[in-house]
Amino acid sequence: MGFNLQNLETALKAGQKYTYLPFSLHFFESVSSTNQTLWNLLNQGAISGTVVIATVQSAGRGQWGREWISPVGGLYLSVAISFDHKIEATESYQLTFATAWGIASQLRQRGVDVGIKWPNDLVLNGRKLGGILTETKVNKGQITQAVIGVGINWTNPVPETGINLESWQALQDFRPISCLEMLTSIVLLGIESGMECLAKEGVSILLSRYLDLLINMGDRVYINNISGTVVGVTPQGNLRVDLETEDTKQLITPEIYIEPGTISLGYHKSSV
Ligand code: BTN
Repeated sequence: MGFNLQNLETALKAGQKYTYLPFSLHFFESVSSTNQTLWNLLNQGAISGTVVIATVQSAGRGQWGREWISPVGGLYLSVAISFDHKIEATESYQLTFATAWGIASQLRQRGVDVGIKWPNDLVLNGRKLGGILTETKVNKGQITQAVIGVGINWTNPVPETGINLESWQALQDFRPISCLEMLTSIVLLGIESGMECLAKEGVSILLSRYLDLLINMGDRVYINNISGTVVGVTPQGNLRVDLETEDTKQLITPEIYIEPGTISLGYHKSSV
């Protein structure tokens, strides 16, 4: 059965305050990448809140230049966001963190026990449920336009480290998300609430909420054979790691900052 835009509009109206982002929905059966289609629409004059949704993508984009395999059954969407407050280009990870926190907390409110794996993965039962790819246009060091792309596994086949939401729901005694349109509305509401949190409450509050859902907090990691503990993230998106030193006289634990994409954390905990 195809995607029912009317069902999505209805679900959105039921849950949305229609304040922060006035969504304008564009649906396609097949695109190369919803992010790319949205950039094309923005070049033709589309505005903040424009959403592109597709049934399949032939060249879905993942983090670090990877491909996001996008068969029928997954959720593939992108949302355009522009800003009236200033966001430095170096702080674009705040948009990813806001999106991850917003979507995870919306799903958790419905009983789906999603956590976040730094920096941009949504995790369920220790497996990857979805990912976020933020792309930005920058002018004079400031972000003028962002496209937030979200892929979530709904009924599509997944690799060994992945999970789709329907297979998780099949093992529960409840089924909180009844259809792809409902999942889409929850994701859009999540993006809206994340952006609203960042804009109105600020980055410190957003980061503390993100950390509450981060499955990696307290993890032991090894950097150049020195062990350390994950203690947080920075507003620039780096992972904060406190290194263990053997120098007992040293009172301050050296803290280092790890850039996204330079180490890989495991999918080990079932929930936060
Ligand atoms: C990741 O690597 O974890 C991020 C994956 C993001 C995939 C989504 S699917 C919708 C949007 N369009 C794309 O081409 N990529 C993002």
